Amino acid sequence: MKLTIICASYTGTTYGIAEQIRNACGGEIIEIQSKDLLSRVVAFMGRHSPGMNVRESGSLPEKIDLSGSDLVVIGTPVWGGKPVPAIRKAFAVLTGCKGKKAVIFATCGENPGTTLQILEKDLAAKGMTIAGQFSLKKKEIEDGTLVAALIAKVQEAADPA
Ligand SMILES: Cc1cc2nc3c(=O)[nH]c(=O)nc-3n(C[C@H](O)[C@H](O)[C@H](O)COP(=O)(O)O)c2cc1C
Repeated sequence: MKLTIICASYTGTTYGIAEQIRNACGGEIIEIQSKDLLSRVVAFMGRHSPGMNVRESGSLPEKIDLSGSDLVVIGTPVWGGKPVPAIRKAFAVLTGCKGKKAVIFATCGENPGTTLQILEKDLAAKGMTIAGQFSLKKKEIEDGTLVAALIAKVQEAADPA
């Protein structure tokens, strides 16, 4: 079973959950970073905000080939009720994804808006099916119960028997 975890993360919350999934289920994390204007402005503001650590890692590959993956996990922070631009840019370079199963998650402060619906629609257009979806608010992430449920869903989707 090959698991691919695709995420974007600016202050580490989403990446931290991607790491927890990888630690529990194995697989490879592909961290996406985008240089579009909004992402650069947010990163710039974050770097100049005291106490905020903006991640410098990640890239936007020319192609992400999922043909060898059995399950894909996709995680995004919520910006303005939507997925971050980086994650939608990653969708544009996905190949080999037709018929693949995905578990999607969004991390946010309090209001995920239409983030999961947008991801679901984008992935359906790529021929993928959603095996599970989670929006994780700050308090829920701190509590840990919903993150554990997300990990359990990934394990179940990876090994449905
Ligand atoms: C530009 C920007 C917009 C945001 N918009 C929302 C939002 O609409 N709803 C919400 O609940 N949180 C919002 N947040 C908070 C983030 O979604 C939340 O802190 C997220 O977990 C950050 O993930 P990261 O640490 O992986 O970057 C916003 C944060 C930023 C920087």
